[in-house]
Amino acid sequence: MNNAIAGFSKLSKEEKINWIAAEYFTNPTDAIATIKQYWNTDENLQKLHDDFIENTITNFYLPMGIAPNFLVNGKYYSVPMVIEESSVVAAASKSAKYWSTRGGFKATVLNSEKIGQVHFMYRGNLQKLEKFFDAIKTKFFTATEDITKNMQKRGGGILDIELRNKTNELENYYQLHATFETKDSMGANFINSCLEQFAKTLKAEAQNYIEFTEEEKELQVVMSILSNYVPNCIVRAEVSCRVEELAEKKIENPEEFAQKFVQAVKIAEIEPYRAVTHNKGIMNGVDAVVLATGNDFRAVEAGVHAYASRTGAYSSLSHAKIENGIFTFWMEIPLALGTVGGLTSLHPLVKMALQILDKPSAHELMQIVAVTGLAQNFAALRSLTTTGIQEGHMKMHINNILNQFETSDAERKIIKKHFENNTISHASVVEFIENLRK
Ligand code: MEV
Repeated sequence: MNNAIAGFSKLSKEEKINWIAAEYFTNPTDAIATIKQYWNTDENLQKLHDDFIENTITNFYLPMGIAPNFLVNGKYYSVPMVIEESSVVAAASKSAKYWSTRGGFKATVLNSEKIGQVHFMYRGNLQKLEKFFDAIKTKFFTATEDITKNMQKRGGGILDIELRNKTNELENYYQLHATFETKDSMGANFINSCLEQFAKTLKAEAQNYIEFTEEEKELQVVMSILSNYVPNCIVRAEVSCRVEELAEKKIENPEEFAQKFVQAVKIAEIEPYRAVTHNKGIMNGVDAVVLATGNDFRAVEAGVHAYASRTGAYSSLSHAKIENGIFTFWMEIPLALGTVGGLTSLHPLVKMALQILDKPSAHELMQIVAVTGLAQNFAALRSLTTTGIQEGHMKMHINNILNQFETSDAERKIIKKHFENNTISHASVVEFIENLRK
């Protein structure tokens, strides 16, 4: 089958849907019905969503849930989360409630610097390039005044621009390595616009620099782009309490619990196979809030995992210790987030999420996101080191199985009652449903 098509983007939405339905489905009418079932009845709202991307045919729903009772720096938050994994919101909520009676979460933004680079090739004398850079450095700032003036009014802008010599790693390769403060915006457009102007200034000034030879004047800009690696845009989240205060219904021996918990974290610190899954649990919380607040979760993911490998070995983002009878669990993660610009003023549910969070600044949002990640990590480690993960997971997953079998309300009652005291597995639930229906 050859499904190649020229000019797909030029087709109308209706034509695109008809083509997809005819090409890929034995029953195109049903396929079209499913696609259209997810359209919003409000045409303007649908148009808004259509225009977010190219070639939109429908909307893809993900649940948006709320994890309440997050006490962060003395203030309560109800945290909106967008995620498909059944146990995540429940786990976050459970951790939030647990820590709300043990002093809550402490969170601090340590710094919020973003980075962008102009990557260029220069074949010539290094000293001359350095002298040239020093001579024209102020021009990078003046040439970008139109772009930076609004950002400067908000207290942000270009912090510094450095010339970096990378020729030891790649022949003739240099960078303009620039740092930015973008306040409440994530700042990707701002940074990229500044960088593209830097690149123009660099090329134009090189052409006019009389000390350069003809070859040196022809320095070549390869690309100008922000970096999603933001090791100086860090937020720290922490919980702590006396070891005996960790006690709860399923934590009968808090001393043993704390020690096992610390061991579990230490394993993730030195064992990459475990660290990846450990950090994935953190990202369950992080991504869900990042998505709900209209931020770029791929950027966050890329930056966080690079940070987790900054020593050369992939390691746990979180850490734990027991000192003088105090259990402390914390992490520091890079989060470049925005609460203005991008989707934040466009997507009605993003606006709602930010309203639910009491219209946070970018720094506050960094704190909320980090805390949700830490809460998620706590919940996972708590389950893993006590009951095992499947108990909680399957309790939540049972709903997916019941939906898959289109069980009635009456059947659900019987099934849920039965599995209050029996081990839940996919097979055991399916078998029970089949027997029930016999
Ligand atoms: C599942 O989505 C996340 C966990 O695997 C995290 C962990 O193992 O720490 C439970």
